[in-house]
Amino acid sequence: MRTQVAIVGAGPAGLLLGALLARAGIDNVIVERHSAEHVLGRIRAGVLEQVTVELLAEAGVAARLQREGLRHDGIELAYGGVRHRIDLHGLTGKHVTIYGQTEVTRDLMDARAAAGLASLYEAAGVAITGFDRAAPRVTYVHDGRAHEIECDFIAGCDGYHGACRASVPAAAIRTHEKVYPFGWLGVLSRTPPVSPELIYCSHARGFALCSMRTPMLSRYYVQVPIGDRVEAWSDEAFWNELKRRLDADAAARLITGPSIEKGIAPLRSFVAEPMRFGRLFLAGDAAHIVPPTGAKGLNLAAADVGVLARALVEYYRDGSSAGIDAYSDRCLKRVWKAVRFSWWMTSLLHQFPDGSDFDRKLQLAELDYLAGSTAAQTALAENYVGLPLT
Ligand code: APR
Ligand code: PHB
Repeated sequence: MRTQVAIVGAGPAGLLLGALLARAGIDNVIVERHSAEHVLGRIRAGVLEQVTVELLAEAGVAARLQREGLRHDGIELAYGGVRHRIDLHGLTGKHVTIYGQTEVTRDLMDARAAAGLASLYEAAGVAITGFDRAAPRVTYVHDGRAHEIECDFIAGCDGYHGACRASVPAAAIRTHEKVYPFGWLGVLSRTPPVSPELIYCSHARGFALCSMRTPMLSRYYVQVPIGDRVEAWSDEAFWNELKRRLDADAAARLITGPSIEKGIAPLRSFVAEPMRFGRLFLAGDAAHIVPPTGAKGLNLAAADVGVLARALVEYYRDGSSAGIDAYSDRCLKRVWKAVRFSWWMTSLLHQFPDGSDFDRKLQLAELDYLAGSTAAQTALAENYVGLPLT
């Protein structure tokens, strides 16, 4: 098989890149190791920046999002039993949209299928070669048969554990990592959200977050120690712990129910540099990971492929390699700002096992400063709604 761009991975990054390239008439094939059902089964955050919504609209897949997505103009920070609203729209003129990642992926998958574009699911043993020369190849096994894709470029959209970054010679790549000493226990429940906007809670017992998917589907998290097992957390234990970390008003209003999804996720920051190796481009989680505190994962992936799609269109349409040559530096400037913001929100709102009373005092002082400073709130809001793509 031959194509212009071979995309490895059918998560948000791979699917959105495929849609943007197809809209520009650039032929592409997606190779995914799992089934479409498996990919859709992953429960992930659903806070979309305006840049992400604009890219989905450019890709022609924003119709349901614009009908069903929930516009949010603010978030609340809770500490010391009091909630403080950050007026995102008032401070930046922008808002975020609440729309589950699973729905974004579903919309992208449906659009790709409707356009009759090639997506090879359940592809085993995916390997990439020749990307350091002008002869990139993607090989894989499907239905017991070996296949090869000849292409001009490979987009490594295969996430943190994918094959593409792992195929880059160690001497050609630098990685930066920070692992946080706690995880997030998350619960999805068919209950109305406790509040119309998200509540980020800083509490001596640990962080908690009240989020949502729809007006009847709520998403909650509590910080848990590294090594905690989800089996050790009954629904009752989860709800009781969440209530202990919420302010009295939210705790009293909380409507609990059986968990329809419950899991523990570790928190890490990770960046691989550069993000381009000859004819191979890394995008999304294949290149960087952020703790979910700032809701940046999906949005960074979308921004990467927005830059990459423009660069590839410039290459094929104008014969210019300026965009692809600038891809890595351009993405990394935005990636590191999002990595910093996600680290800052995580450090501000979580309790660290080795944290001292002095550390807790610093956190409370910063929260007090935020509560009373328009300048501090604007800095938070600018980063939360998303920095400009350029
Ligand atoms: N071959 C083919 N596909 C692979 C391989 C491989 N060797 N390894 C991984 N994949 C697939 C995974 O099965 C997954 O479907 O690549 C896809 C990567 O998708 P994500 O992990 O979702 O990464 P990305 O598309 O970059 O999305 C980034 O969206 O998942 C959310 O918030 C999450 O930050 C994350 C963001
Ligand atoms: C979620 O709804 O899953 C979510 C929302 C905001 C975050 C993280 C996760 O910062």
